[in-house]
Amino acid sequence: MPNDTIYFDEPIDDDTRRARLYEGALFVYSPTRHTRGFVTFAQELIGEAFGNMDPEKAQHELPVEEFARILGELKPKFIHHPESKRFVRGIIEDLGGDPTQVYFDVPKMRSSTSDQYLTTGIAYAWHPHRDTWYSAPPCQLNWWLPILPTQSSNVMAFHPHYWGRGVANTSRGYNYYQWNQQHRGGHVTQYLKEDPRPLPKPAEAMELNPQIRLVVPPGGLILFSGAQMHSSVPNTSGKTRWSIDFRTVHAGDAAARKGAPRSDEMCTGTTMRDYFRATDLERLPEDIIAMYNDGTEEAGALVYDPATIAARKTAGD
Ligand SMILES: [Fe+2]
Repeated sequence: MPNDTIYFDEPIDDDTRRARLYEGALFVYSPTRHTRGFVTFAQELIGEAFGNMDPEKAQHELPVEEFARILGELKPKFIHHPESKRFVRGIIEDLGGDPTQVYFDVPKMRSSTSDQYLTTGIAYAWHPHRDTWYSAPPCQLNWWLPILPTQSSNVMAFHPHYWGRGVANTSRGYNYYQWNQQHRGGHVTQYLKEDPRPLPKPAEAMELNPQIRLVVPPGGLILFSGAQMHSSVPNTSGKTRWSIDFRTVHAGDAAARKGAPRSDEMCTGTTMRDYFRATDLERLPEDIIAMYNDGTEEAGALVYDPATIAARKTAGD
């Protein structure tokens, strides 16, 4: 299987590209019109949030509580901004995706702080994982782009020798609907020192080397399967790393059950209700979602909706 291949600006159609991604390949792209626009938009929001401070260095000046408070306002603003969805659609089209078939989840802004300043909660430092340990379907693709320049010591790492190779892990205890209801969206002042949330992680020692760190310019893009083993590298750069990521599924592939091979996923529930069609923000058709139901639909909240969940908790449900 071509899990040993990284394609740069490869001129192929989206169907072929998805098939290769499901076989473990990585794709890297130079900045496009919409990735440039998205990055500029994100830089502006970050600039507003930090005022005259350098966002890569602000962590060295601010108390961690204040830094987390700023992120707690900035990140939701970015995630839910209508412009963000418009840029995601533009990026999908720039790279040859069919917007009538491709569905995306809301794009996230991420920050990886240096020197373990804040590695929990709102700025979680990701241990090695597959997104498919977190109820993502086998056809999920991840898109990752830096907002500001990155370097080897603050990017993300891939561990492709775990492609299709099972790892003991704690995903058995993870149900997406329970997660939505009980653990998601904690207050930003929570989890400043430790993060007790039951996030699936490896349950055996892993071989993290050799690993692949792709350093792309702001607006450059990395595309990979959600089943790919990946992690945040320990940030020793002295600078906070800022990036954007979002996820997509292709409706035709979801309906045909195409995607990466399963190797060690034991979680329940599905994120299939989280994706919006690029053309009109409709959710995936119910019959496709139903194919991914596993009988745990009563376990919690099918989608994350803070207002509904708060109301349920108040009602003692
Ligand atoms: Fe991930």
